[in-house]
Amino acid sequence: MKNVLVTGGAGFIGSNFVYYLLKKDPTLRVVVLDALTYAGRRENLSALPASANVVFIHGDICDRALIDEVLATHEIDTIVHFAAESHVDRGISGPEPFIRTNVHGTFTLLEAARERANRAGTAPRFHHVSTDEVFGALSVGDPPFSEATPYAPRSPYSASKAASDHLVRAYWITYGIPITISNCSNNYGPYQFPEKLIPLMIVNALSGKPLPVYGKGDQIRDWLHVEDHCDAIYRIITSGKTGETYCVGGDNQPTNLTIVRLICELLDRKKPSPDEKSYAEQIQFVNDRPGHDFRYDIDSRKIKRDLGWRQSYRFEDGIAATVDWYLANGAWLSMITGDPAYASWIGRNYLGRGETSPASNRKEEAA
Ligand code: NAD
Ligand code: DAU
Repeated sequence: MKNVLVTGGAGFIGSNFVYYLLKKDPTLRVVVLDALTYAGRRENLSALPASANVVFIHGDICDRALIDEVLATHEIDTIVHFAAESHVDRGISGPEPFIRTNVHGTFTLLEAARERANRAGTAPRFHHVSTDEVFGALSVGDPPFSEATPYAPRSPYSASKAASDHLVRAYWITYGIPITISNCSNNYGPYQFPEKLIPLMIVNALSGKPLPVYGKGDQIRDWLHVEDHCDAIYRIITSGKTGETYCVGGDNQPTNLTIVRLICELLDRKKPSPDEKSYAEQIQFVNDRPGHDFRYDIDSRKIKRDLGWRQSYRFEDGIAATVDWYLANGAWLSMITGDPAYASWIGRNYLGRGETSPASNRKEEAA
């Protein structure tokens, strides 16, 4: 591995991965290709050292001519594919860009890799970063998702990611393109766009806005610190077996409401509200996400056994560190929250959901 193409490297996990990769091997040449949609920021990479051998290309993964040129000019031997439309709620309001980027964009990259194999004699290694949401939803007591779980996506986002997983696997079976896939659970940590649960709650709490909890807040995700996800991907691209899928999860099962309350407690201690009320008083139960997946849980035994991966963050420590990061990076946050497009989306999505009766929700919760 010498020349690595990171698609979506200006987004949340992609930017964390670029830092991680160069920490592991500062001699690598990293080419970041990112369309800089609402979710991508060049500023996410501004803490790279001046010595880092990073080329940034502002471009679209659906642009076949551009991808061909990037693969050839930079002699790319490894592609780590993060670029995607990633937010489930946005996929519900408008699925079209999800199909375009997640399905057609992945197909375009695969075709370019196939063409490169024909021309140069070897195909670049292709790692596809995917999600546990392709497996559908679990109820309480169901066994966790594993590499053997059948696909059952339930939202436009997860259906588009499932389609891309199938394409990636098909290019291995049909054309021998050396692929790997990871299906990971919910990430949290620095640079996460404040539309996702954890950073949205931090931002809204600090700005005195409601903390919108969907339904009763009893849904469960399997949270993993982004650095642990980056470590898993690094191990897969350096020692994973081609053609294989690896499930990656955090062995954490807090409910959404537990997380929101934990964030409020942390903020109450670290940055008390000027009126001295607990941030928890800002919690507002709102109408549920349509088709809301109830629970995710991941069995990571394969990557632990085969690649020696372990998560290093305890959830409580990771969340506290994340709250600290957002408190220390007010300028980064203001850059995003000051964008009128951000305010308009948040207004439509969260406040447009309508508050449900907190009293009745709390009664149900107590029951
Ligand atoms: P993100 O939304 O923060 O970043 C996505 C990046 O892709 C942005 O920089 C955006 O500008 C770029 N992008 C979007 N469309 C593009 C296009 N057509 N061409 C080039 N660049 C484009 O997403 P994220 O949370 O960092 O997720 C990254 C990947 O990881 C996604 O594939 C997602 O499905 C997967 N994933 C995310 C999570 C999670 O919890 N966030 C968990 C498992 C897997
Ligand atoms: O599981 C992996 C997936 O995790 C990734 O593939 C996706 O890209 C990523 O966005 C994430 O999807 P979720 O839908 O689980 O994440 P989100 O942060 O949007 O929501 C987490 C939970 O919190 C979910 O049950 C919905 C709920 N929620 C979310 C928001 C934004 C709320 O209750 N209120 C909110 O305001």
